[in-house]
Amino acid sequence: MIPQKFLLLGANGQVGTELRRSFADAGEVIACDRARADLSHPEKLRALVRDIRPDVILNAAAYTAVDRAESEPDLAMLINGTAPRVLAEEAAKTGALLVHYSTDYVFDGTKDGAWIETDATHPLSVYGKTKLAGEQGIQETAAKYLIFRTSWVFGPYGQNFLRTMLRLGKEKPQLRIVDDQIGAPTSSSAIANATRAVLKGAADIPSGIYHMSCAGQTSWYGFARAIFTQAATPEIIPITTEEYPTPARRPRNSVLSNQKLKTTFRVELPSWEEALQRVLQSI
Ligand SMILES: NC(=O)c1ccc[n+]([C@@H]2O[C@H](COP(=O)([O-])OP(=O)(O)OC[C@H]3O[C@@H](n4cnc5c(N)ncnc54)[C@H](OP(=O)(O)O)[C@@H]3O)[C@@H](O)[C@H]2O)c1
Repeated sequence: MIPQKFLLLGANGQVGTELRRSFADAGEVIACDRARADLSHPEKLRALVRDIRPDVILNAAAYTAVDRAESEPDLAMLINGTAPRVLAEEAAKTGALLVHYSTDYVFDGTKDGAWIETDATHPLSVYGKTKLAGEQGIQETAAKYLIFRTSWVFGPYGQNFLRTMLRLGKEKPQLRIVDDQIGAPTSSSAIANATRAVLKGAADIPSGIYHMSCAGQTSWYGFARAIFTQAATPEIIPITTEEYPTPARRPRNSVLSNQKLKTTFRVELPSWEEALQRVLQSI
């Protein structure tokens, strides 16, 4: 790959942190945190993109507090819906490629098998609706873009299920974990590595939505069981979604098919179990 100029937004998030690592030797990476590029002021992003004139915009910034979004819909829409469209409009003007991340929560979870990119979207939550608006906003521009929908992101830092489990496991002798939502836990490093592999391999990148999750599937309960095979083990009790009410509704089946990513770019992510072992070893 010819060295390129990358503008990375959300540089201190789970995925943003790993993107800094995986793109470190790919060229110049201008990494922006919220202080330098605040997506709740989308219009200010225009000057940033025009000043930097990146070859690639990597947008790892998002409003990711799924439950809080139910009571902050306007802010979530500004960050997840409006800002990605503005980035895409500027990418179209400057010729940059926009790489953006989206979510399994654009689906309602009612399908029996794995979701493919062309399946009908029907988000159940404010967060899902705002992320879908971001996808649609990008697609309505003339920008070259890649939208990677991922799921159940975990890693060694930030807020995620793995870190919550490791903390609660030290505090409580018993954990009650939802067993009727299934998906694929996906490590932030696997996402960053796959993103790098996609950009490295393809000279002419076909714009589109691609699912990008670790292979396999499990429930939150199954994920918790796997986490505690190594760490000190509390008792883990499987419960239903109804027994763990949250402000935002979540899809029952979040499993994404990665076939399109594999066929188009020959890029595959590891199994969620393998990704988990790697992260546990790094903690
Ligand atoms: N986490 C998941 O389970 C999950 C699942 C599916 C898809 N995704 C998608 O994957 C992508 C990366 O998520 P992640 O897990 O890395 O999330 P994350 O760890 O919550 O990181 C999000 C980043 O966005 C930043 N941010 C929030 N509001 C901002 C604003 N107004 N302006 C600029 N930056 C702002 C945060 O900054 P601060 O550090 O200052 O708060 C944080 O660094 C997102 O598009 C997300 O929707 C995530």
